[in-house]
Amino acid sequence: MAQENVQPEARSAEQRVPRHVAIIMDGNGRWANARSLPRYMGHREGVKAVRRVVESCLDQGIETLTLFAFSSENWRRPKTEVGLLMDLFVHTLQKEVNRLDRNGVRMRFIGDREAFNEKLRSLMDAAEAQTAHNDKLTLVIAVNYGGRWDLAQAARRLAERVAQGELSAQDIDSEALGRELCIADLPEPDLFIRTGGEQRISNYLLWQLAYTELYFTDLLWPDFDKAAFDDALRSFHGRQRRFGRTGDQVEQSDSA
Ligand code: IPE
Ligand code: IPE
Ligand code: MG
Repeated sequence: MAQENVQPEARSAEQRVPRHVAIIMDGNGRWANARSLPRYMGHREGVKAVRRVVESCLDQGIETLTLFAFSSENWRRPKTEVGLLMDLFVHTLQKEVNRLDRNGVRMRFIGDREAFNEKLRSLMDAAEAQTAHNDKLTLVIAVNYGGRWDLAQAARRLAERVAQGELSAQDIDSEALGRELCIADLPEPDLFIRTGGEQRISNYLLWQLAYTELYFTDLLWPDFDKAAFDDALRSFHGRQRRFGRTGDQVEQSDSA
C-alpha cells in the first residue's frame, strides 16, 4: 500500500524536474555589508554558492543552468568593484574549469565579450573549447549580458541577412528572431530564481523568460544552499504550466 503511494509520486516529481534553470545571483554586497566586510568578500563567498548549485543540478539531472554573473549595466559600479569582479572571474575560471570538465559540465559564455581584456577572453574561449564535448550539464554564464543587447544583436544579424539578399523582410517572424538569440539551441528556462529579495528581471533573458516560472527568495546569494535550491524546485513542482491553455485542458493532456 505504502509503495503504491510512493511510486506514482516519485515518477511525477521526476518528470517535473526543470530542464533549464536560470538564476540572478543577487545579494553579495548586502551579505558582506551585514558582516562589515568589503563587498568583494560577498562576491568571493558567492562563488561557493555557485559550486553548490552546480552540484545540485548534476545530482538532479538538470540539463542547463544559466547564471547571471555580470550585467551590461554593472559597468556603472565603482571602478574598483568592477576591477575586483574581473579579477575574481579570472581567478575562478583558472581554478574551477578542470573540475567542471571532470564532472561533465559544458561551459558557455553569453554576452558581449568585446569589452573584456584579452586574458579574460582567451580564458573564456579555452574553457568553452576544453568542455565542449561534455554532456551532463550545460553551464551558461552571462557576462556583460543584457536581454536588450541580445535582442539588438539578433535584429542586427537578421538585417544583415536581408541586406545580403538571403532573407526577405517578410520572413522575419518570432521564430526567425528567436533563432538568432544567444542560447537559441538550448531549451528555454523552465524555472527562474532570483535571490536577494528584489522582484525584478534587471535586463536578464527578456525574450527567453516569456513562459518561465518565476521564483524569488529573500536569501542573499552567498546563503543560497542546497536546501534553498530544493525549496525552489519544490515550488516549481507544484505549478501548473498552462502556456495559454485552460487548466482543464492541461489536466486532460497530462493524463492522456
Ligand atoms: C550580485 O550581487 C552580484 C553582481 C551583480 C555582480 P550584488 O553585488 O548586486 O549584491 P547587492 O545587491 O549589492 O547586495
Ligand atoms: C543583476 O543584479 C545582475 C547580476 C546579478 C549579475 P543587480 O544587483 O545588478 O540588479 P539591480 O541593479 O538591483 O536591478
Ligand atoms: Mg544587486
